[in-house]
Amino acid sequence: MKTFDAIIVGGGIIGGSLAFELATRKLSVLIIDRQVPGQEASWAAAGMLAPEPESADDIHVLPLARMSLASYPRFVEAIEDASGLAAQFRSDGTLRLYFGVDGESERDRAAACHRDAGLSTESVSIAQAREIEPSIATSATAFAWLPYECSIDPRALTHAVLTAAERKGVELRHGTAVDQVLTSNGRCDGVVAGGETSRSRHVVIAAGCFSAGVDRMSRYAPTCPVRGQIVALQPSQNAPKCVLRGHNGYVVPRNDGRVIAGSTSENAGFEKQVTAEGIEQILRAATELAPSLSSAVIVDTWSGLRPDTPDHLPILGPTDIEGLWIATGHYRNGILLAPGTARVMREWIVDGQPSLALEKFSPLRFAAEHRKAAR
Ligand code: GLY
Repeated sequence: MKTFDAIIVGGGIIGGSLAFELATRKLSVLIIDRQVPGQEASWAAAGMLAPEPESADDIHVLPLARMSLASYPRFVEAIEDASGLAAQFRSDGTLRLYFGVDGESERDRAAACHRDAGLSTESVSIAQAREIEPSIATSATAFAWLPYECSIDPRALTHAVLTAAERKGVELRHGTAVDQVLTSNGRCDGVVAGGETSRSRHVVIAAGCFSAGVDRMSRYAPTCPVRGQIVALQPSQNAPKCVLRGHNGYVVPRNDGRVIAGSTSENAGFEKQVTAEGIEQILRAATELAPSLSSAVIVDTWSGLRPDTPDHLPILGPTDIEGLWIATGHYRNGILLAPGTARVMREWIVDGQPSLALEKFSPLRFAAEHRKAAR
């Protein structure tokens, strides 16, 4: 039987980033993943680092989102140094396109809301927008420039994070599902996975949409999957150089010349098919943003399962069992929120307190509902 300071259940971008962060503070860490780490939502994500609040729920996430985005350049530098791998970070900004008769008023409302939230979104004319990005649709009726937004290749990043974590001494155990989270006398002190017991002072559940399926964890982490499909395009001409986003979708340029177009939001359980309807919807949105993409070659398609929660907010922090922590439910923002989540969880676990107020994200907010349902 092996003993660690922390066991992290789930080796995606959240679990990997936290493992790296804890290992840099000299904690011994084991990541346990039910399959090959980093192959679920982190692998499927488009990689927009976009704190733009799109719904009332997003307002609650904004402080963490802004802190996480601000820490991205240093996070990437630390990961690239430790791993020797490139994470493909780009700080090209995002052009937001609005369509229809209400486009201008919608844009003005959004830009004012962003500025109130401390984001330096600018309303721009069509001439200014075309100067920033010549590939855009002239059928759009209003434009906003979000110069602070960035993007990253989530597969490159997650691979680099896991490599960096391993080089810092983190042990990775894959192809092993957690059978039991060990608790006694109100304390969690390890897990049983693949018939093997591992002990630790801290156990962190970071298994994305699979968290609810880990032994008795649904009371703290009632996650559910929301499918998002993606189309990878190889344009031959006039490819967008920055992220373009509209009401119906987005396109994200990659360093290798591909453009990643997304996405759908579907309740399809744990099914990861790519459908004709999904692809049609994505291509319609992508060519609405950048008409020249209609001649691009489709080079790949895939889908992933976003970890959603009943109130669409992340689940972060301690439970009512000492030593048992949750870090999951990042829904559409796992890549953006990874460095910030790793930092606040490390502060909580190592120093006893996070530097941001995170009560809204408490794993205990679902416990009363869970007790009612169990009666
Ligand atoms: N973060 C983009 C998406 O969830 O589609």
